[in-house]
Amino acid sequence: MSNKFIRSIRDLEITNKTIFLRVDFNVPLSDPDSEGVRKIEDDNRIQETLPTIQYAIEKKAKIVLASHLGRPKGKVDPQFSLQPIAEHLANLLGIDVMLADDCIGDGIDLLVRNLKPGQVILLENLRFHKEEEGNDPGFSGKLGRNCQVYINDAFGTAHRKHASTYGVAAQIPTRGMGFLIEKELKFLDPLLQNPAQPFWTVLGGSKVSDKIKTIESLLRTVNGICIGGAMAHAFSAAMGEALPPKAKEPSIEDVNCAASVIRSAKKNDLPLLLPIDTNEGFDIGPKTIGKFKDALGSAKTIFWNGPVGWFEKPEYATGTRELAEFIATTYALKIVGGGDTVSAIEQFGLASRYDHLSTGGGAVLEYLEGNGLPGIEILKDYPNRKSHHKNAALQPTDEPDEDGNR
Ligand code: 3PG
Repeated sequence: MSNKFIRSIRDLEITNKTIFLRVDFNVPLSDPDSEGVRKIEDDNRIQETLPTIQYAIEKKAKIVLASHLGRPKGKVDPQFSLQPIAEHLANLLGIDVMLADDCIGDGIDLLVRNLKPGQVILLENLRFHKEEEGNDPGFSGKLGRNCQVYINDAFGTAHRKHASTYGVAAQIPTRGMGFLIEKELKFLDPLLQNPAQPFWTVLGGSKVSDKIKTIESLLRTVNGICIGGAMAHAFSAAMGEALPPKAKEPSIEDVNCAASVIRSAKKNDLPLLLPIDTNEGFDIGPKTIGKFKDALGSAKTIFWNGPVGWFEKPEYATGTRELAEFIATTYALKIVGGGDTVSAIEQFGLASRYDHLSTGGGAVLEYLEGNGLPGIEILKDYPNRKSHHKNAALQPTDEPDEDGNR
């Protein structure tokens, strides 16, 4: 899997061009207040997209931003409107950001065609149309038909083969990635290829089965693994050990996955560190914290996915907090993936002491399985690759130049 065939927005001619910029503004929102207003609870994903948007503004591109929010299941649902995000983005950029009332249609076409260089429009939630998740070619054509350049900066959604992450890209030959995706790949690719060693990974959270392919893939490059969180119970069960009294019984599937990881680790002679004490089964205990610290202290690369305890409850946050604080002090390259772990690190005020907090949840785990993600693979521009441009609904507005740019 090589990403050298992906062009960055920096490599593309975007001045005066209309660009379809897929972003992931799927951010946590509060419940509606008495006036029905929802507030953004964590704007990290929006902040991380600003460099790409600002670059496109400086280059005087005409910018069409597109995102999903939540899972409205193909129906218009006002609670999933991107309105709060459009307002917040306008404040961050210091310019007007118009929210279109839909993402396709004659009215939208007109708005997009009337964009001036440096202007930004945000399309309404893509998932108000079921064709988005169905990767419908006609819908993709309508979404992208006024755009000459396709940029994906939605790493968090790159594991979805949807119209906006795949279909539109397939139809616009001038395509590439934004700075957010570029940064994600810069930190994640070495984990699969040539991490500085010793490379340790810390895994927590609840289900081993959700992460089994990622663990198997990482087993090729890691020097050791620490396991905490509820998923450690599956490992205890796989080894025939008694579970802490209050622990939830792991599923058979999870126990089988844990047994398979134990076998692979043994075969590869890799240390697999499991909790030796717990706080009622909801957090790792002090001896385990010490054991993990001993192992991680000499690491040169640490990848962490999944809290090692129920950190949202103060009485079970000690393990995750102490580990987060300790890792922050190490000289290792520190990479964190997964929404919960990133939230924990932010909550502890340690974000600036980590090298990379991924914006991906499911996407980061799937990326580390090593088979590529649809939203990233489609950006690759291999020499001699045939264009996917087959859809009549897409009306190119310019002839290609000598670089193939339209
Ligand atoms: C995420 O938050 O993980 C991404 O935005 C993808 O959302 P989805 O799981 O609803 O596809």
